[in-house]
Amino acid sequence: MGENSLQKTLLIISGGAEAVPGIERARGMGLYVVVSDINPKAPAFALADDHIIASTYDVEDTVAAALHYHKTVRPIDGVMCIASDVPLTVASVAHALGLPGITIEAARLAGDKLAMKELFVEKGISIPWFCRVDSVADLRRILSERGFPVVLKPVDSRGARGVLRLTESVDLDWAYEHSVSFSPSGRVMVEEYLEGPQISTESAIINGRAFTPGFSDRNYEFLDRFAPYIIENGGHQPSVLTAEQQNSVSGLAEQAALAMGITTGIAKGDMVLTKDGPKVIEIAARLSGGWFSTDQIPLATGVDLISAAIKIALGEQVLEEDLIPRYQKGVAIRYFFPEPGRVVRIENAEQFRDRSWVHKLGFFVKPGDIVEPVTNHTKRAGFVITSGETRDQAIERAEQVVESIKIETVPMKC
Ligand SMILES: Nc1ncnc2c1ncn2[C@@H]1O[C@H](COP(=O)(O)OP(=O)(O)OP(=O)(O)O)[C@@H](O)[C@H]1O
Ligand SMILES: [Mg+2]
Repeated sequence: MGENSLQKTLLIISGGAEAVPGIERARGMGLYVVVSDINPKAPAFALADDHIIASTYDVEDTVAAALHYHKTVRPIDGVMCIASDVPLTVASVAHALGLPGITIEAARLAGDKLAMKELFVEKGISIPWFCRVDSVADLRRILSERGFPVVLKPVDSRGARGVLRLTESVDLDWAYEHSVSFSPSGRVMVEEYLEGPQISTESAIINGRAFTPGFSDRNYEFLDRFAPYIIENGGHQPSVLTAEQQNSVSGLAEQAALAMGITTGIAKGDMVLTKDGPKVIEIAARLSGGWFSTDQIPLATGVDLISAAIKIALGEQVLEEDLIPRYQKGVAIRYFFPEPGRVVRIENAEQFRDRSWVHKLGFFVKPGDIVEPVTNHTKRAGFVITSGETRDQAIERAEQVVESIKIETVPMKC
């Protein structure tokens, strides 16, 4: 579409590969899309109408650059992020430019797991017990009172970096140092390890009314293999939980988001259905990554959550019927976990690329790259998203792809 004065401008803060489908969607909606990222080679720049060089995590840098663009280049009508966890940057730009968005306070809570849980206690939202940890001695004291297992995590990181499941066999000095090293503010916390099915929810909240088209069972079959790291091996839709259980989980995620002050916006929940009912691990104030919001939700339900998020960012009306699942198809995602070492070759991938049920197949490594030991979600080597008539068929297909494709590595020489 050519430039015209009626064409609205959307700023997307994040130029990574996972932002690409969202940028395509925004352009398809006739918007002028500006993407900001610190990386001049950001994959999404190629698709954008224009770009801004600014670090997504650096709030002041992005606010200054966006304000400059807004005043001197082209007025911006809305701001959002896609598959990047920068709610404070987004909220701060919205605030500075007078655009729709969540409050800076809600964004701050979303970026601080401790402050979020303190608020949840105040608001009566069901969560695991938790405690701030100031030193390894403090950690030992808490464990002697509470016992194992617990989860130790940075207060303000993402991608499961520094998230550890502590049992008797874990060296606590190492664990504390490891977890702290991933916290920009040097703060960590412990919480009760919640037993039970883990669920990802993704909701759109419109004027205080929440809709949760995203509801996926998460797969933690490798809890022992990767211990003490907690590594997710994908997930599937539709959920195995009953409708009543699903409603209890999504209802709590929605209450939690509202408690944070997200009255119009996107909320992504990390939830556990325990024997005492659903509990919140955290709520992120943004669209999910891992191709969940961009691909898995639309594939499984027909709901285009990205378009809804774009309309929310622009302050446009979202129809309720557009947020209600139109069907429930089987969709699964699984990851590749090759042996650590240098990648020699990736075999058997081509035969799956044109299967109708392989929605996406991607590798984060190529021959010559190093596969590091899996210590957080950024270390996974690749993924496949499959569809099926049923959940089980989608899962079977994903597992077949992961078993068939070999990412061959050779150990690194010391
Ligand atoms: N208290 C807990 N009980 C059970 N599982 C937990 C607990 N805390 C974290 N986990 C698991 O570890 C994952 C990562 O933890 P958390 O969400 O706190 O960190 P994160 O860095 O935000 O990770 P991500 O960006 O993947 O969500 C959670 O999504 C959940 O599956
Ligand atoms: Mg999380």
